[in-house]
Amino acid sequence: MDKFVIQGGGRLTGSVRVSGSKNATLPILAAALLSDGPSVLADAPDLADVSHMADLMSQLGAEVRRDDQGRIHVQVVDESRSHAPYDTVRKMRASICVLGPLLAKRTEARVAMPGGCAIGSRPINLHLRGLKALGAKIELDGGDIVARAKRLRGAEIFLGGPFGSTVLGTANVMTAATLAEGTTVIECAACEPEVADLADYLNAMGARIDGAGTPHLVIEGVERLTGVEHRMIPDRIEAGTFMMAAAITNGEVRLENVRLDHMMAVVDKLRRIGVIVKTDGQAAVVSSSRHLEPADVTTQPYPGFPTDLQAQLTTLLCLADGNSAITEKIYPDRFMHVAELLRMGANIRKEGPTVIVTGAKRLIGAPVMASDLRASAALVLASLVARGTTTVNRVYHIDRGYDRIEHKLAGLGAKIHRSNE
Ligand code: EPU
Repeated sequence: MDKFVIQGGGRLTGSVRVSGSKNATLPILAAALLSDGPSVLADAPDLADVSHMADLMSQLGAEVRRDDQGRIHVQVVDESRSHAPYDTVRKMRASICVLGPLLAKRTEARVAMPGGCAIGSRPINLHLRGLKALGAKIELDGGDIVARAKRLRGAEIFLGGPFGSTVLGTANVMTAATLAEGTTVIECAACEPEVADLADYLNAMGARIDGAGTPHLVIEGVERLTGVEHRMIPDRIEAGTFMMAAAITNGEVRLENVRLDHMMAVVDKLRRIGVIVKTDGQAAVVSSSRHLEPADVTTQPYPGFPTDLQAQLTTLLCLADGNSAITEKIYPDRFMHVAELLRMGANIRKEGPTVIVTGAKRLIGAPVMASDLRASAALVLASLVARGTTTVNRVYHIDRGYDRIEHKLAGLGAKIHRSNE
């Protein structure tokens, strides 16, 4: 199993290009199942979850290949297989994205029910409720969700749950509704930029989706969709992670290919902490002058502060001058990084879905264990500033969602290398 060995203490300086968004690419690849023609997806990040999704698409009768410019070419050549088996789904929960497209295009889908996950309970009841409202018959058979409908029918659907809307649930219901008969209205739709990017892709294919990026979607069903070329939006979570890497190392980093308009809550929070974020067209320059103010932060659905940057921000606040409170409102148990940060000398106390972080003078290198994607990123950030050497074990978690992170960090001057000893 690979690990990162990181020598902390250096400033990160220089320029780094942010990759295309993982969480936009996964549902967009799945949505390619809706069309008969080929699609070309530009700036799709080269990371393990995208490879998993490409494998699943192949199992479902699509030809998928990446060209030397990093574009993914995808085309359905065989519509006879509609089964996403447990072995695939358990490796990547986002496999659930194929449920809506398969059902709408092939009239039947069999997708293994996703199980538990390191960041807490992740039900899919809202996805199923939405698809049922469109007329699907759904049953559970041997751990698989089996969904059937001759032709879906437009409906009015409310997608709010106890923690707000659902990102992939909105993706599933929205994609299914594009080929339904009549009009679908989704209330309390997820407003995340990745959902809007999916809607842009579908509209370019011939779908008629109105309101993307707002909680109110109106979808007029169409008869068919065609393949198109689409460029992924920049990954706002990767961008936020690099911003925090610049801040925690007291560095100065220029990020190319960022959409700060997708990151207002993050930029606002960083500025309040004392991090300097300057914009320059499609680029941002992030620097810090060592002194970090504490902050109170609550994760929320977009446009609030994203849960996918909570662990990284917790690491940053470990070095602030005072007490911070970080409350997780999307996944109340998403604190696996805390115990590992304690091993590095952080001062953190957990109370329910909140952690109280008392800023420490320094962090100290130690062997630590990655538990999930964003927790791993938080540990890498801590390692960059820690005194001495940190070994981050099980980096396959970070490979799932970051495109060559050690190369990008090394390019900014970090002393990081991958080892499989
Ligand atoms: N929820 C329900 N019922 C449902 C679906 C969700 O109660 O049917 C709850 C969840 O338990 C959670 C909240 O609603 O409390 C939001 O979950 P959501 O469905 O929005 O999450 P998701 O769509 O499964 C995506 C991202 C996650 C990100 C969340 C929240 C992808 C592939 N995944 O997951 O990204 O944390 O939205 O923004 O887009 C990551 O990239 O590290 C990651 C985990």
